[in-house]
Amino acid sequence: MTDDLTVRLVAVEYGAAGINRYRFAPLGDEPLPAFEPGAHIDVRVAAEVVKQYSLIWSAGDTGRYEIAVRAGDRDGSSSRHLHHESVVGSDYRISTPRNNFGIDAEGTEHHLFAGGIGITPLISMYRWLTASKSTVRMDYWSPTADRTLFRDELADAPGVSLFATAAGSAPRLADRIPGVPSHAHLYCCGPPAMVDEFDRLTADRDPALVHRERFTAPAVDRPADAFTVTLHRSGRVLTVPANRSILEICCEAGVDAEFSCEEGVCGACEVKVLAGAVDHRDTVLGPAERAGHDRMMICCSRGRGDLVIDL
Ligand code: FES
Repeated sequence: MTDDLTVRLVAVEYGAAGINRYRFAPLGDEPLPAFEPGAHIDVRVAAEVVKQYSLIWSAGDTGRYEIAVRAGDRDGSSSRHLHHESVVGSDYRISTPRNNFGIDAEGTEHHLFAGGIGITPLISMYRWLTASKSTVRMDYWSPTADRTLFRDELADAPGVSLFATAAGSAPRLADRIPGVPSHAHLYCCGPPAMVDEFDRLTADRDPALVHRERFTAPAVDRPADAFTVTLHRSGRVLTVPANRSILEICCEAGVDAEFSCEEGVCGACEVKVLAGAVDHRDTVLGPAERAGHDRMMICCSRGRGDLVIDL
C-alpha cells in the first residue's frame, strides 16, 4: 500500500442489519485529503489484509472518512475483523483516496443502480448530484427493508426507488435499464452477478456513458503469453513470462512501482502505456478507457505483444 497515512477509528455505528458504519479521523490538526464521490481508500484491516472501501461523501463533513462494511461479505476476514475486532480509538493505515468511479459532471442525466453494500459509492453520487441540481434517479436493491443502508434518508428521497429482493416481486435490472434514455449516464455497483448483468444490458450503449465499479476480480481464463515491456524512463527492457505479472517483474528488478491490491481492483498500479496493445484483465477501467490502450493496471493486465510503459 503506497501513499498511506494513519487515521484513528473514532466511531462505529449501526447502519442496517449486518452493516456497520466506521468513521476515521486524522491524528493531528491536518485535515484528511479531500475526495470526490465514487472514491475509495485501501484500509489495512490487519497485518496481511488490505481491502478497498468506498468513502461515503458528505458535503457537510470533510474532516472525517466514513466507510460501511457488511458482515460476512465477500471480504471475508476483513469484514469479520472490522465487525468483531475493531476498537474505537485504535489506529489504522489507509491509502489516500483514489477515484476510479467518478461522476461525469458534464452529463445532463444520471441513473444509479445499487445492489446491497454497493450503495456506498452511489449514495455519495446521489447526494452530490442532488446538491448540484442534476437530473438523477437511483434504483437500490437490498434483501429486506432492515438491511437497506441509508433507508431513513432514501425512503422518500426524490428519484429513488428501493426494492426488497426477498419479497420476490422486485423488478430486475433488465426491467429498468431499457427505460433509461440513450443520452443518460449509467452507474452500477453491487454483487458480481449484478455488475455482469449490467455490463450485458449496457453493451450496446455508448461506452463513455457506462460506469461501474467492482471490488472483486472476476476469474480470467484467457491464456497468457510472454512479452517484453520497455520501461520508458530508464530504457530497460524486461521479459514478462506467461505466469508472471509486469508488477512482479518490475519489483524483482528493483523498479519503484506502486501497488496495493495486486488483483486489478484498486487502481494503485496504473501506468501510462506509450506503445503496444493491452490485454486488460483488471476491473478498474471501463470499456471506453480500455479502448484507448493508453493506460493499464500492471498487476494483472498484459501485453498483446510487446509494450512500452511510462515507468
Ligand atoms: S495493485 Fe490494485 S489494481 Fe493493481
